Amino acid sequence: MGAERDGFIGAFDSGVGGLTILSRLVAELPHERFVFFGDSAHAPYGDKPPEEILALSRRTAASLVDEGAKALVIACNTATSVAAPTLREVYPGIPIIGVEPALKPATLAPRHRRILVMATAATLRLGKFQRLEDRWGTDSEVIEVPCVGLADLIEKGDPGSPQIRGLLERYLGPWRGKVDSVVLGCTHYPLVRDQILEVMGDVALFDGGEGTARETRRRLGAAGLLAPDSQAGSVELRSSIDTPGELALYRRLFDLARGSEP
Ligand code: DGL
Repeated sequence: MGAERDGFIGAFDSGVGGLTILSRLVAELPHERFVFFGDSAHAPYGDKPPEEILALSRRTAASLVDEGAKALVIACNTATSVAAPTLREVYPGIPIIGVEPALKPATLAPRHRRILVMATAATLRLGKFQRLEDRWGTDSEVIEVPCVGLADLIEKGDPGSPQIRGLLERYLGPWRGKVDSVVLGCTHYPLVRDQILEVMGDVALFDGGEGTARETRRRLGAAGLLAPDSQAGSVELRSSIDTPGELALYRRLFDLARGSEP
């Protein structure tokens, strides 16, 4: 049986970061049913070898597709870079939408001389980002800052913690006043948007959430899979750390992501 309009959209990430993408998806597609899976038991992905990231992503995708997902959103830059081509090969019958660092909108903004890109080490190292930079970075100086350890701290659920502030000071502090914009190239980072602005002062922030949500609408429309307007949308949050405490943390960070949409 093929995908149906009233089926659900499966979205997944290494952990809580994908909630920032989910919040944009829900805003863009209020009639859809979403099942979100965060693999917090295995987070962070960004420091793992590609084979391991691929295996974890395949496992999550397989369980969502087996359950009947009509589309998949890879709500993780790292997993998109590693696994999107394979997942599209394995599941040719359903739309698979990925996320990429929002370098394109940053380079098209009026102030784009120097752009700092925060992302995981894996995302910055992989060919997908290098191709993005070759295509869109020619008119700007692109400064790559691998933020090792940041997603891991965000997973703990306290965006205002002194540890996060300390790490942001260490990675970003040297660039304060020296860049026009900052690309949040990991879906965890919009959860510390305010803290990034506190360190960086007057810069424009770009993340991939809005573009991903628009692309998801476009792809569902093209495949005839948009939910009917009569359908009530819904969101189910799941985590590989399947405890009431962890799910409450997911719910809280999802609310935070929804509240901080620009
Ligand atoms: N949220 C993920 C991303 O967008 C990765 C964080 C991690 O697990 O390292 O890249």
